[in-house]
Formats: sequence, C-alpha cells, structure tokens
Amino acid sequence: MLLFLLLLLLFGSPCSSAAGLGVTARTLSPCYSADLRPATNSLVSAVGCKVLLTVPPLNTSQIVFWEYQSGLWEGVILSYTLDGPTNTSQPYENRTSFNETDCSLQLVLQKGDEGLYRFRSSLETTDWFQLHVLEPLPEPEILGNVSVKAGGNTKLVCHVLEGQVDSYWWKKNGELLLGSDHIQFVDHSTLCILKASMNDSGYYTCVVRNEVSQNEASFLLHVQNSPNVVLPVILACVLVGSLAGVFVWCRSRGRQRL
Ligand SMILES: *[C@@H]1O[C@H](CO)[C@@H](O)[C@H](O)[C@H]1NC(C)=O
Ligand SMILES: *[C@@H]1O[C@H](CO)[C@@H](O)[C@H](O)[C@H]1NC(C)=O
Ligand SMILES: *[C@@H]1O[C@H](CO)[C@@H](O)[C@H](O)[C@H]1NC(C)=O
Ligand SMILES: *[C@@H]1O[C@H](CO)[C@@H](O)[C@H](O)[C@H]1NC(C)=O
Ligand SMILES: *[C@@H]1O[C@H](CO)[C@@H](O)[C@H](O)[C@H]1NC(C)=O
Repeated sequence: MLLFLLLLLLFGSPCSSAAGLGVTARTLSPCYSADLRPATNSLVSAVGCKVLLTVPPLNTSQIVFWEYQSGLWEGVILSYTLDGPTNTSQPYENRTSFNETDCSLQLVLQKGDEGLYRFRSSLETTDWFQLHVLEPLPEPEILGNVSVKAGGNTKLVCHVLEGQVDSYWWKKNGELLLGSDHIQFVDHSTLCILKASMNDSGYYTCVVRNEVSQNEASFLLHVQNSPNVVLPVILACVLVGSLAGVFVWCRSRGRQRL
C-alpha cells in the first residue's frame, strides 16, 4: 500500500510538482485585434477566438477538473483521470482540448462562455479566473441623406447591428473630424452638420471600436448649391426692386407734370 502511494507520488499524477494557485490565460493568434498577452486574473477575448488556460504545476492528484461558473450555474468542463480518457461535458465537446502533460485547456469561445474558470485537483484548487467574451464588431451602417442642399442641416447616424461599441469617431476624407459650432457629435454615433456648405461634401467615415475589434464604413455626402431656392429669391428681389424703381420714377414723373 505504502509502495503504491510512493509510486503514485513519483509517477502516478497528472501535472504533478510544486504548488501554485493562479490560472493564466491568453488568446491564441490569429484573432482579430484581441490582446495576445498572457493575463493572470481576467482576460478579454472574442467569440470565435481560441483561448489557452494554463495552471502552474500542482501537487499530486489522481483526478483533475476544469470548472466553470456563471451566475448561479456551476459545472465541470472536463475531468481527467490518470491514464484514463478525458471526460468532456457535452457543451464543450469538439471545441476544447486538454493537454495531459501540463493540464492546460484550449477552448474555442462561444457567446455564452463569459464567466469564471478554475482548475481543481483532489488536493488543491486555483482561484477563479474571469473570462470576458465580446463579439467582434461588424461593419457599421451609416444612415443619412446622400444629397443635401446648401444652408440646410443634415445628420449621419452610425449604426452597429450587434456587439458592444466602446468608442466611435468620425473622419472626413480620411482626416479625423473634430467638433465645432458647425460639426457636432450627438451620442458619439451621430454626426450633425449645421448649415451645410459645398465645402462639406466628401467621404465621411465612421470608425467603431471595442476591446477586441475595430471596423468602419464610409458615406459619400454631396452638398448641392440650391439655385432653385436662391435664384427665385434673387429674381424676386430684382423684380421687386425694379418695380419699386418704376413706381418711384412714375411718381416723380407725375410730380413733375403737376
Ligand atoms: C463523465 O463525467 C460525467 C459528469 O461530469 C459523469 O456523469 C460520467 O459518468 C463521466 N464519464 C466517465 C466515463 O467518467
Ligand atoms: C462533436 O462532433 C461529433 C462528430 O463530428 C458529433 O457527432 C457531435 O454531435 C459533436 N458534438 C457537439 C456537442 O457538437
Ligand atoms: C502539452 O504541454 C507540453 C508542456 O507544456 C508541451 O510540450 C506539448 O507540446 C503540449 N501538447 C500539446 C498537444 O499541445
Ligand atoms: C432625409 O431627408 C428627408 C427629407 O428631405 C428627411 O425626411 C429624412 O429625415 C432625412 N433622413 C435623414 C437620415 O436625415
Ligand atoms: C473648407 O473645408 C476645409 C477643410 O475641410 C477648410 O480647411 C476650409 O477652410 C474650408 N473652406 C471654407 C471656405 O469654409
């Protein structure tokens, strides 16, 4: 019996060695612009990315587990018994791989994987590791009128169909747009141009970003000089002006006759 335990201590344990209690994780490349550096307490990664969770070498144990917790739900991702098969629970089938040498876990992320992860042996348990799972942002959609009349106000709305946007910014013909009396940003996602002039015509680009992705879309805005408003007004002024001139001329002629 003693000999068995001794043998177990020497050879018989998965991932055996000195103690340590933290999980380290990193996103494996290639994966959007997600941060690929290892993190020790929490990691932000994206749907579709592959994440590697590693543990320091643990003390001897015959059975080890990777566990998951989210809200009130807690469950076993997989268990591994020395020299036995890896027992992976159904939601993680086909998207996890367990390394029997160092006990690391690779996981291809899905939307619902946000939560806490830990590794447990029969003797030791690591702290919970927080994994945040974001969706990479799709190309935004810009809503607005392609053509506006000079002097009018117009707005361009940058709309992202899904995913959480951390920041928006706008560019005009490739250059960063800053707010002014003339250019205003409402809720970051909406660009308002007040009293548009011909000079406001051009390519407007909305750039959206979150911790794991960046995307953008462009919109060609055309500001038209509006002769159909200006010209009649000018004509009307000229007409009124000349009629007034004729009237004054007639009156002075009339006075002269008197
Ligand atoms: C695998 O684990 C589940 C629970 O996590 C258990 O019900 C099942 O018996 C295990 N299968 C084997 C072969 O160990
Ligand atoms: C995993 O893959 C196998 C074979 O491709 C398939 O039969 C099984 O349904 C898959 N499991 C899950 C949970 O997708
Ligand atoms: C398992 O881990 C060991 C030690 O870190 C490493 O040498 C080996 O390549 C890994 N195996 C796989 C399949 O990743
Ligand atoms: C586009 O112009 C029409 C009328 O000219 C207006 O009703 C509509 O609200 C405008 N759309 C946007 C997004 O500004
Ligand atoms: C037209 O716009 C450019 C930048 O977009 C600016 O430098 C220039 O001063 C503007 N001209 C007028 C007449 O507003």
